[in-house]
Amino acid sequence: MSSFWSWFIIILTVANVAAAIWLMQANTKRAPGETDTTGHKWDGDLEEFNNPLPRWWLILFYVTVVFSVGYLTLYPGLGSFAGTTGWSQVGQYEEQMAAAEEKYAAFYERFAGMELAAIAADQDAMRAAGNIFGNRCAQCHGSDGRGAVGFPNLTDDAWQWGSTPDALLASIGNGRNGAMPPMGAAVGGDEAIDEVVAYVRSLSGLEAQADKAAAGQQRFATVCAACHGPDAKGNPMLGAPNLTDDSWRYGSSVEDIRYSIVNGRSNQMPAQLDALGEDRVRLMAAYVLQLSGSTGE
Ligand code: HEC
Ligand code: HEC
Repeated sequence: MSSFWSWFIIILTVANVAAAIWLMQANTKRAPGETDTTGHKWDGDLEEFNNPLPRWWLILFYVTVVFSVGYLTLYPGLGSFAGTTGWSQVGQYEEQMAAAEEKYAAFYERFAGMELAAIAADQDAMRAAGNIFGNRCAQCHGSDGRGAVGFPNLTDDAWQWGSTPDALLASIGNGRNGAMPPMGAAVGGDEAIDEVVAYVRSLSGLEAQADKAAAGQQRFATVCAACHGPDAKGNPMLGAPNLTDDSWRYGSSVEDIRYSIVNGRSNQMPAQLDALGEDRVRLMAAYVLQLSGSTGE
């Protein structure tokens, strides 16, 4: 808050409290010469009394003034003055988070030395992991882990980066950033791209013209095999996906594959280690294993 607005709020607040006191003072005393009626008269003899507020009622008002002064001294309220207690919403939130962290740390600590498969078999562990997944993973991988266009399905047994415990811990803890550069120019021309598309589709048994696919195989070997492997089964070191199975991140239609080749593809999995800590990353790796029904080899 800039100091102008801070003083603006301070002056306004203090003036309000002062005005409240003045208003009460002004209404409890009769001005000299005033009578106990207001002077209004209706129907000949109906008069309005001018009585001060009852004492107990008045005292309540003063109590609220005293309360407000106390509150504004102890807690933030007067512009950027933080209050003598130093209390803040953020501070309270952080305190509660720290308390929760301490409470749950013991629960997560026991996963430190455990095999992923053993954690995956622990129902309490998987329930906790399911909650974390909903909070931190589902927005990208889907609440059921089946992914979406560009976001891998974690429930199948196709792995871009591998499913060994180390690979999973690295995927989740450090994040991943698979990148395929645009390859259109390297393949060389529209027709050549059509051939490579046909070859890629033929690899997983999708409909493709046989002569085109055969021509595409040559081009694949020179341009694509370096990353996707000579048999197109992928390379987990580079995050190059297996192109021979029926698992597709970006789609298997002629248009989708063409787009992948011409424009390249890339996406990022954000690192989770800082936010979750090692024990919970381990728990999540076990959860992903359990989702895929894999044993982790
Ligand atoms: C912001 C979106 C996003 C969030 C959040 C996210 N992921 Fe990912 N994740 C991705 C993307 C994108 C990839 C693929 C990265 C690539 O293209 O190389 C990926 C890849 C992975 C992989 C590797 C899959 C494979 O086939 O090798 C695992 C395992 C994984 N994520 C688990 C998780 C878990 C567990 C969480 C939650 C703790 C999580 N992800 C949160 C986007 C996300
Ligand atoms: C430099 C390494 C590299 C080269 C060369 C390369 N790719 Fe890729 N390719 C990748 C990576 C990495 C991904 C995954 C991108 C991601 O994680 O978003 C990918 C993704 C793809 C996809 C998307 C798969 C899906 O599941 O939707 C297709 C199709 C593909 N590549 C085909 C090819 C073809 C055909 C060539 C040759 C013209 C080729 N790639 C060359 C690394 C490469």
